[in-house]
Amino acid sequence: MSEIEKKPIKITETVLRDAHQSLIATRMPTEFMLPIVDKMDKVGYHSVECWGGATFDASLRFLKEDPWDRLRKLRDGFKNTKLQMLFRGQNILGYRPYADDVVDYFVQKSISNGIDIIRIFDCLNDLRNLQEAVNATNKFKAQEGRGEAQVALAYTLGDAYTLEYWTSMAKKIEEMGADSICIKDMAGLLVPYKAAELIKAMKEVTKLPIQLHTHYTSGVASMTYLKAVEAGVDIIDTAMSPLALGTSQPATESMVYALQQMGFDCGVDAHELNRINEFFIPVKDKFSANGTFDPYVLSTKTDALIYQIPGGMLSNLVAQLKAQNAIDRLDEVLAETPRVRADMGYPPLVTPLSQMVGVQATVNVLLGGRYKSIGKEIKSYIRGEYGKAPGEVNPELAKQVLGDEQPMTGRFADTLEPEFPAAREHLGTHARSEEDVLSYIAFPQQAEQFFERREQTFTASYSFKEVK
Ligand code: CO
Repeated sequence: MSEIEKKPIKITETVLRDAHQSLIATRMPTEFMLPIVDKMDKVGYHSVECWGGATFDASLRFLKEDPWDRLRKLRDGFKNTKLQMLFRGQNILGYRPYADDVVDYFVQKSISNGIDIIRIFDCLNDLRNLQEAVNATNKFKAQEGRGEAQVALAYTLGDAYTLEYWTSMAKKIEEMGADSICIKDMAGLLVPYKAAELIKAMKEVTKLPIQLHTHYTSGVASMTYLKAVEAGVDIIDTAMSPLALGTSQPATESMVYALQQMGFDCGVDAHELNRINEFFIPVKDKFSANGTFDPYVLSTKTDALIYQIPGGMLSNLVAQLKAQNAIDRLDEVLAETPRVRADMGYPPLVTPLSQMVGVQATVNVLLGGRYKSIGKEIKSYIRGEYGKAPGEVNPELAKQVLGDEQPMTGRFADTLEPEFPAAREHLGTHARSEEDVLSYIAFPQQAEQFFERREQTFTASYSFKEVK
């Protein structure tokens, strides 16, 4: 083996976003985070991931917090470390495509309230669904001198996903003006030797830094990182050990230790890491005590490696079949799933495609014939409303859905009118800021309930002042 270049490896800490999203349903409130921010800021992380769809939703819905307020408080505390968020391309933080004006506004407000790096991805890896967010980030960076656009590719397996596919995507991402690339392996499908092959191939075609994001679900994630580091990856995503492993990321402390032993400098202080570890142990204990943390999420599930479908999708299939009293048909559904995915042009099995493919495969088996009934979302997908399928959609299936209609070849968001003005008008004085309007656009019901509660609290404190 030739000598490996021992360049510094940067660390993105996920404990304030993906780690608690993966293990404790995103229930960590801001007040639990703030006491450790100062120490985390001094460790030497490349960035701290702290914001995204689920953190935003759970703040409003369950924690009764303003997600923008959390971001500003974290920004105040993190004086040296970059803050990072996850952004679902044209879907922003939700599940439907938004008009471009909202995408622009969201990017702009995220950066002005404290985000440095926006990790942008699309469930179909359709770069047209990412361009607007990348442009908006670059526009804001030119004005304010802050903001980085990272394009993330959803990692998946299948005939369409050759090394050629990944390298051509890497070249296009560089051309579209992104600052870095992330390979986002949501399901723990990326195994060590494949990671080495993939990173090496991508490094040959792009100068952009490459970051790797994976989950420990199938038990290979830390090995995958080691091979990726040897192959030249620049940044890895890890979580402090009390909230690492299982459906979360590899542990920061263990990865840093192993990498330092191998001669890679991660730029972080191991003693400081230990203090952060001590802080998060009782935090985790609180979530264990109230039942939010279920140790089941830590068990290794190799189903993803055997069936090449994400663990979460398999458990959904099992639940669906049990509900239909048809668990004895599981083998047939597992055989049908890759066929449906092939018919749809091999979409990555991520939300919402994993649910759509799983339900259609189940329907095909239980109705005793393929595509006797076709789901509404599958029809929209075949009409091109989600974006372009990575491979070819089965022409017979396309004909059955479309008839004489042509699939959409343009970008669905181009058919949408600006949304911000109507939302602002709808909210009237309930919105105290443009950030409020964006919260409402992202999660209408949760935001309106939050505004109502806020007004009640405000009135109460106001009348108290009157008495005084
Ligand atoms: Co993740």
